[in-house]
Amino acid sequence: MWKGRFAKATADLVQQYGESISYDWRLYKHDVAGSIAHARAQVKAGLLNNDEFASIEKGLREVEQEIDAGSFDFSIELEDIHMNIESALTEKIGAPGAKLHTARSRNDQVATDTRLYCREEIDTLTTHLTELKKALLEQASTYADAVIPGYTHLQRGQPVTVGHHLLAYVEMIDRDTSRLADCRKRVNVSPLGSGALAGSTINLDRQQIAEELGFDRVTTNSMDAISDRDYIAEFLFDIALVGTHLSRLSEDLILWCSSEFGFATLSDAHTTGSSLMPQKKNPDVCELTRGKTGRLYGNLVALLTAAKGLPLTYNRDLQEDKEPLFDSIDTLKLALKVNTEMIADMTINVDTCLAAASDPLLLATDLADYLVKKDVPFRQAHELVGQAVAVSVQTSTPLDQLDLTQISDHYGADTKEVFHLQTALAARTNPGAPSIENVRAEVARWQESL
Ligand code: ARG
Repeated sequence: MWKGRFAKATADLVQQYGESISYDWRLYKHDVAGSIAHARAQVKAGLLNNDEFASIEKGLREVEQEIDAGSFDFSIELEDIHMNIESALTEKIGAPGAKLHTARSRNDQVATDTRLYCREEIDTLTTHLTELKKALLEQASTYADAVIPGYTHLQRGQPVTVGHHLLAYVEMIDRDTSRLADCRKRVNVSPLGSGALAGSTINLDRQQIAEELGFDRVTTNSMDAISDRDYIAEFLFDIALVGTHLSRLSEDLILWCSSEFGFATLSDAHTTGSSLMPQKKNPDVCELTRGKTGRLYGNLVALLTAAKGLPLTYNRDLQEDKEPLFDSIDTLKLALKVNTEMIADMTINVDTCLAAASDPLLLATDLADYLVKKDVPFRQAHELVGQAVAVSVQTSTPLDQLDLTQISDHYGADTKEVFHLQTALAARTNPGAPSIENVRAEVARWQESL
């Protein structure tokens, strides 16, 4: 493509080092769409006649079909998807193909392609996130009233329900989808027409091109448009944070599936055995999800690092944006699909949950609240209950079996009622708190919104 200036062919190693076709081929549909829109604007500018346009469009569609069918012969000498397609087009249709690159550079072309690609993948990931939300919601609905201990520091804290716990993840995933929707706004801007860095002396109708490609608007600074990869960094961050959420969910499920907790059972289809220990049933999907989150972080950091030292505008370092982007998208897509299936098939062991939640220590705070309602200042109530807990631990007597009146005469005959688990949960009626009524209302609200 640049043979005019050079006396020697590119060295083989340089070709190997610099090619991106082995991975950026996946932008082909977006490249074809961008080229057709660009050619149409060339017609409007009087640079192509209708016949030339028709043959460009037909030729590009043929190339697209060949790539679809797997019969296209990619060449690393042509470096990337842009040059592979353009060269194949010109081979097919001759002269009009050689006109296509007028008023365009690979720099605005690659930015256009990746933006179209990100937009599509944001939409796909949003669908997968919604499916995961639905699976979590379904389980939250089934187990809205299955009481479990809620933990801080992984120590039993206060009673909640499985429904409430799972809805916490629905909240996270919902924020993830709205974050992606926000990112999409900045992705969906057309850089085409920015040229190599300074536009072109040949002015194509950028707005027309943008509209044809479904972009909301055009970029407003050619230098920024060429060198901007913020939208990829943002997308990678959004993906990384979904990873964080999935990883936390994984960790919860790993704990829940252990014999020590026993709260949940994953289906045989979503667990694996051991080659040595016959009894094992391992939550590998959860562990892999937790592990793969590291890759999602790594991809974000790789891009940020590649971009941080670059002078304006395009530098070849920017080609390093694609593999992290593709890897994060592929990794997350599969993670979402397999986790959705696994959650949908999970069983909660309600009796084990209830047994764990029936630990009277979970209601120690409620006991302090009881004293507060008798006008004991909270700090004093906290200390009094702390003393009771110490006696309970020292004498191995459950907190609800102690004669609390021996510790303080603030306790009365009604103290025992504090230890009624259902009453304790039912009292948590403030918005966001886990009374079963609240949890059911939240399930209904989410079902409505999904
Ligand atoms: N394959 C290149 C990339 O992904 C396309 C842009 C190349 N531009 C250039 N001036 N070499 O970044």
